[in-house]
Amino acid sequence: MTYPSPTDSIIVPLDVPTPLQALALLDQLPQVNFWKVGLELFISSGGEILKILQEREKRIFLDLKLHDIPNTMAGATGAAKLYEVDFLTVHASAGQGALKAAVEAVGPSSQLQLLAVTLLTSISNRQLAFELRVPLELPEYVLQMAVLAKDAGVPGAVCSPQEASELRRVCGEDFLLVCPGVRPSWAQAKDQRRVMTPREALEAGANYLVIGRPITQAENPVEAWERVVAEVQ
Ligand code: C5P
Repeated sequence: MTYPSPTDSIIVPLDVPTPLQALALLDQLPQVNFWKVGLELFISSGGEILKILQEREKRIFLDLKLHDIPNTMAGATGAAKLYEVDFLTVHASAGQGALKAAVEAVGPSSQLQLLAVTLLTSISNRQLAFELRVPLELPEYVLQMAVLAKDAGVPGAVCSPQEASELRRVCGEDFLLVCPGVRPSWAQAKDQRRVMTPREALEAGANYLVIGRPITQAENPVEAWERVVAEVQ
């Protein structure tokens, strides 16, 4: 496994509703090399925001959490390649057939790497048991979904830093782990639960960290970015 440089290992989410606000954030933080585009911004701006990031030679994490039939998964994944996206999320629960179709659409020599979402962090143990009727404890289910994705050829997963060491142990050194739910010791946790600091998350086995509000909503975002980079160096 080749580990990214400290600057490249931190992904900042463009969690804003419009392309104009996204541009303002890009201008405010030119030091950031890796940006995450989620459903809200993608739906409001379409491919425009991806073109902007591509023109600025930024790395792109397209967090669309695809969950569909194999044919559609393959088509959507192929389309993401046109924007030179680096990471694209798919739900592991779409099943082996859909995951394999997406992996095949990516092909062997693309820069695009698929990441499996094992279970939404908004789902509790209770919901898993009583709404989704899954007869497994939550950590066991998360692990099962990661193994399913890995067996289908998906090269990595998004997971909470708390799950990173177990996924690293079972899925091996070459499996990519991208972790949100990371908070520098000086930042407030806000609505994130069970957080780890950037250093702890990397030590637990994460390759990439998604850190949003502690940077984007800091009084001085550039200074906050520099403090996070210094911490992971
Ligand atoms: O601001 P904050 O650092 O909490 O942002 C974390 C980012 O990671 C947000 O874009 C959030 O939607 C995303 N995310 C998460 N937990 C997951 C998956 C994605 O917080 N399990």
